[in-house]
Amino acid sequence: MLQQLEEIRQQTIVALENVLDLETLQALHSQSVGKKGQITQVLRMIGQLLPDERPRVGQRANEIRQELEIAFSERESIIKSYELARSLEEGAIDVTLPGRSIATGKLHPATQTLRRIYKIWAEMGFQVYRSPDVVDDETNFTLLNMPAHHPARDMWDTFYTTQEGILLRTHTSPGQIYAMQEYAPEPVRIILPGMVYRYEQVTARSELQFYQVEGLAVGRGIRMTDLKGTMTAFARRYFGEERKMRFRCSHFPFTEPSVEIDIECILCDGEGCNVCKYTGWLEIAGAGMVHPVVLRNGGYDPTVFSGFAFGMGPERSTMLRHGIEDIRYFWGNDLRFLEQF
Ligand code: DAH
Repeated sequence: MLQQLEEIRQQTIVALENVLDLETLQALHSQSVGKKGQITQVLRMIGQLLPDERPRVGQRANEIRQELEIAFSERESIIKSYELARSLEEGAIDVTLPGRSIATGKLHPATQTLRRIYKIWAEMGFQVYRSPDVVDDETNFTLLNMPAHHPARDMWDTFYTTQEGILLRTHTSPGQIYAMQEYAPEPVRIILPGMVYRYEQVTARSELQFYQVEGLAVGRGIRMTDLKGTMTAFARRYFGEERKMRFRCSHFPFTEPSVEIDIECILCDGEGCNVCKYTGWLEIAGAGMVHPVVLRNGGYDPTVFSGFAFGMGPERSTMLRHGIEDIRYFWGNDLRFLEQF
């Protein structure tokens, strides 16, 4: 009987070494040490032995059962850790796969241009001043030295509202009046960016709405040379040090004298092309010395104070820089266009 027990022990230990899954382990367990297993079966026959042999066999059976139970639980933890490793391997992430990129929003090309412009003017000490898009006739025209029926009003085709005398600003120049009335008699040095509106046919070259960046400097002793020097400094930073520029005589009711500022064409470097209409020059701004009437309307004494002003259209330079041929893309909200910037 002892011999039988030793064989069960030996066979079970050998079998255990080849068990690779919990199911087989369970089956082997009930077959050998389980309630109805081989060891139990051997012990059932213990009654056939002589009484003084029984304790030795019983004791040995218990030892073997204990030893095997330990061997089973050791095998069980080996199988479990092996299965864990296998499932980790199967579910593992392949870190060499290319990632999926997340679509991010971008700044509108006009906003990007405006920010570049703000930065340059900020470095020259010009603060941003915000003024309303909806203004009265008085501020958009009259106080800028264009009384009712003044022919210069025809320079801008205007969107009027249903309320008498209230309109969408046709230019950012009325912002000069708001700013001067707020600050006079203190000196001011500001830029006034914003949307302007014109009642015009929409074409590849003209839109109902576009940005302007107005500038205004008022103080004592400001002269035309300050205007020229300041605009030259701006153009050098914005268009590059080498870019030539010129000041042409012009006329605006709110400045005297008035100029228009051109830069050498950035596409043909002044050679002449269809963008500059074979002149070699591109207009970038209107400007001039603030008219004494406008200074007075803003609250400054024109015998003491003087100033310069300018107005430019940033979309145009964005179009030139990126080779955009149709201004309607700016407000068409087509992502295929916007995502390129
Ligand atoms: N307001 C003008 C326009 O819309 C641009 C302009 C010209 C603004 C001369 C100025 C200026 O401040 O001095 O065409």
